[in-house]
Formats: sequence, C-alpha cells, structure tokens
Amino acid sequence: MAFFTLPSFWVLCLGAGISYLGYVVIYRRYFHPLSHVPGPFLWSVSGLPIVYHQGIREGQLIHVLPNLHAIYGPVVRIAPDQIHLNDPVNYEKVYNVGSKYTKDPAFYGALEGVRRGALNPFFSRRSVLDLEQIIWSKTGKLCSMMRSSLDADGVFDIHHAIRAFSVDIITEYAYARCWNQMDMGDFGADYQEAIRTVQTFLPFFHILPFLGDVFSLVPDWLIVRVFPKFQMWLDSNELIRKAVTEVRKEISQGIKPARRTIFHELIDTPVTNLTDPNADGRKQHQTLSDEFVFADAINVTGAGAETTGSTANRAIFEVLSNPVIYHTLKAELTQAFPNPEAMSLPALEKLPYLSGVIKEGLRLNPGLPGHLPRVVPASGASFNGIGIPPGTVVSMSAWLMHHNREAFPDPEVFDPTRWVDNDDEDAAAKIRARERCLVPFGRGSRNCLGQNLAMCELYATAGGIFRRFEDLEVHPDFGREDLRMVELLLGYHPRNARRFRIVRKGGVAIGG
Ligand code: HEM
Repeated sequence: MAFFTLPSFWVLCLGAGISYLGYVVIYRRYFHPLSHVPGPFLWSVSGLPIVYHQGIREGQLIHVLPNLHAIYGPVVRIAPDQIHLNDPVNYEKVYNVGSKYTKDPAFYGALEGVRRGALNPFFSRRSVLDLEQIIWSKTGKLCSMMRSSLDADGVFDIHHAIRAFSVDIITEYAYARCWNQMDMGDFGADYQEAIRTVQTFLPFFHILPFLGDVFSLVPDWLIVRVFPKFQMWLDSNELIRKAVTEVRKEISQGIKPARRTIFHELIDTPVTNLTDPNADGRKQHQTLSDEFVFADAINVTGAGAETTGSTANRAIFEVLSNPVIYHTLKAELTQAFPNPEAMSLPALEKLPYLSGVIKEGLRLNPGLPGHLPRVVPASGASFNGIGIPPGTVVSMSAWLMHHNREAFPDPEVFDPTRWVDNDDEDAAAKIRARERCLVPFGRGSRNCLGQNLAMCELYATAGGIFRRFEDLEVHPDFGREDLRMVELLLGYHPRNARRFRIVRKGGVAIGG
C-alpha cells in the first residue's frame, strides 16, 4: 500500500519549498551577519530588487539608491550579502592605492581586470604626451567632418561621431591599427549598439551565473541571426585576433616594430609570477596566451569608447545650451590660442574655465556612474560606526558622490565656475572638498587604466571644437531628458533617447 497518494506528494513538495523559502527569508533578515545593517526588507532577503531596477527597468539603480540612503542612512543593505555606502569619507577606505578590497568576481566576471603591470606604462601621462599627435590629428578630422556635414546637410550626428572618434583614437593609440569608424557612413553605430546590448544582460548573469555560461555557448551565427548588429562586434573581434597573431609572429621573428602596441606589452613584457610560490615576487618572462591578450584588448576598447564619448557629448551639450558658458569658453580659448592649430594638452590644461567645463562633464556624465563592488578583506570593516564582516560586498557610486549636496550645491546644474579658483581662501577649500568627491575614474590601484588618454581626448574635443566654432546649436529635436543617465556597466542614456545632433545657429526648424 502506497504511503502517499499523488496529490499529497505534490502538496508535501510545496510545503517543503515554502518552508525552505521561509527559512531563507528569516535567516537572511534576522540571523545573517548583515542583519544589523539598515535596509528595505525585500532587498535584505533577495537579490531580485537589484535585478528588477538594473535588468527589467534598465539601469535605474543609481536613481533609486539616493532614496534608500535618504531613508536608511549612509550605510544600506542592498542585497543579502551587499551594502552600499554614501558618505564620501568612506570612498578612500574602499578604493585606495594598495587597498585590500578586491573586485567582486561575481560582478566583474571576465572583466575582473586587465594586466595592469604590463599596461600601466603604456597609458602613463608621459606615453600619452608622446603620442598626443594621434589625438590632434583625429580632432582635426572630427572638426573638418563636422564643418562639411553642417555645410552640406545643416546637421551633424555628434552622438555617433564622437564615439567613433574615441574608437579610432584607442585603436590607433593602443593597436597601431586604426579601425577608421569615423569614415563609416553611420560612424560604427552597430558596434556601439552591440556593446550596449551585451550590458543589458549583465544583471541577469550576475544573479544567475549559469545564464552567462549558456550565453557563451551560443554560436556566433545564431547571435547574429537574433541581433544582426552583433556582426560588426564580431568583425572587430576578428581584427583584434588578427593583430594578436601578427604581433606574436613579429616578436618570434625578432622584428622590431615601428611603434610598440598593447599587444607587444602583453605578449613580450616580463610579469610578476603570482601563481608560483617560489617566484618570490620576481619578474619572470611569462608569455600570455592569445586568449588573455585578446580579452585585455577587448576590455581596453570596450572601456574607452562609450565612456569618453558620452562625457564629451554631455560637456558639448551643456556649453551649447548656455550662451554665457559658450561665450566665456570661446573667449578663453581664442585668447590662449590665436592659432587654433597650435593647441597642446599641457597648454589646454592651464585654462581654468575649460578645465571647469571638463570636470562638470565628468561629474554629470561619469563613464561608469554606478556601484563598483569590492569585497571586504579578512580584517572586516567599519563604516559610519557599523561593523561589517569579511566577505561582504561593498560599493559606492560616482553618481551619488557627484551629486553630494554639501560639495555641490544645486548638483544638477552644470556650472564650470565651481572649479575656478578666484584666489579666495574659502573658494580654494571648497574646490579641494569638491575634488575629493569627483571620482569619475575611480581611485586606487584598480582605477581607470585609460584616464590620461581620456583626459587628453576630452581637452582636445572641447578645446578643438569650441576654438573653431562659435555658431553651433543643439538640434531642436533633442533635449536634456535624452541625456538622463542609466547605469548598465557603463553609463548610457535611456534606450528610447534621441541621438544628440548639432546644427548651426538658426539652422533647422523643429522636425528638420
Ligand atoms: C571619460 C572617460 C572614462 C571614464 C569616466 C572611465 C572610468 C573608469 C572607471 C571608474 C574604472 C574603474 C572600474 C572599476 O573600479 O570597476 C575604469 C576602468 C578601466 N578603464 Fe576607464 N574610463 C574612461 C576612459 C577610458 C579609456 C579611454 C580607456 C582606454 C584605455 C579606459 C580603460 C579602462 C580599463 C582597461 C579599465 C579596467 C582597469 C582594470 O581592470 O584595472 N577607460 N574606467
């Protein structure tokens, strides 16, 4: 005789499932090592709210976090094993040089980190200044394309053009093999779209990592069938693979390159052997496999194009939207550079108003606005008097730092004068406090690898464009709402946002 009839078996299973769920919820809320950290109920017992705001609502977490901090204070539990911080004094604790807080592998996955030892010198300020000419020649090209397009069509698609400009600079600078996206009719729009689309999956991969593994098994032809725009992404990956093969062959044949590339640095630089306990920190000639070199190269192009492009666009939009800012900037540039062809990064960096424009662009449009998760080290931590156990994932967001009302009154307003020191002692102290809150490139040993290159690009675009053009306007079909930030991994604008285009003053009527 059977003990259970079939329906009672399923009822038992259901009961067991509900009891387990109840146990998990009660444990996480009341007995978990983070149960003393304030936070909303649902967030403290499940990772679903993050997936909802990041995945389903596409990158809205940065707009939800300020409300949570307003209710729960500077330390908030945002997932069963995660906290988010909002007090700037904590930034240096978590993201400092030599920090024992490591990147959270569950969040970064394959992006966990490029080989900094090999690549740092390649992106140092000295190296950027040595290759500054690459940036100036691309800036000249961008400005003349803008002029021709405005003359011929009355409008210029700066949204895509500026991102193509960044891709061309990185691929020329880092690979010595320019992808020439500026010469493509649509400025490589598909490539940009593919990178964005990949990031929309990330929140789902974070909570269900096996989805990422399944995705990586999907053959390329099927991906392209579903998302045709991925073809350009795959083509660009092929260019990188080809470059890796070519450089490896050159090295093996002892051919000295005209200019070293990141492929040379990665393939041919002695690196510290971290896996051999007998190496004792000594450098060893360890050759990276092609897959590692390929992954690092992809990270460099992926990290550098959208970030710099969208920050530059924000700064350009704000300057064009405010006649006083446009006029002041133009006057500063004209006085400093009677000849617009004779600009250099060191000379541009000395201009206080231009520097204020760039800092405000980075503040209101940081390339990575969202939370950058780190793991609390074995020693544990204490933030704002709240003890946090080792292994907890802790993060802070540039978006919240950049909207800190104490450092930046009226934080939504683009105001370059916040950064201009008028020799007033009080102003200097305020600027120092603002500098501490301005963290577009992160801080510490895992901060942005490409920040010297990015800053050079930003100075070159703003300096180059506004020294040459005094009659530009934002296209009337584009508005501030189109620049609202969403946080995928990189910062983007809403999917349905219109693309930023510029026209000549009085040039185009609405709908044109
Ligand atoms: C305005 C432009 C840029 C901004 C705001 C920006 C911001 C950042 C931030 C905040 C990080 C740290 C991420 C983290 O802690 O998880 C980062 C990392 C990185 N950035 Fe940038 N970035 C910019 C431009 C560039 C450029 C032009 C490159 C090209 C070389 C680049 C390459 C990288 C790489 C490779 C990493 C990973 C570093 C590592 O793993 O140690 N970035 N970036």
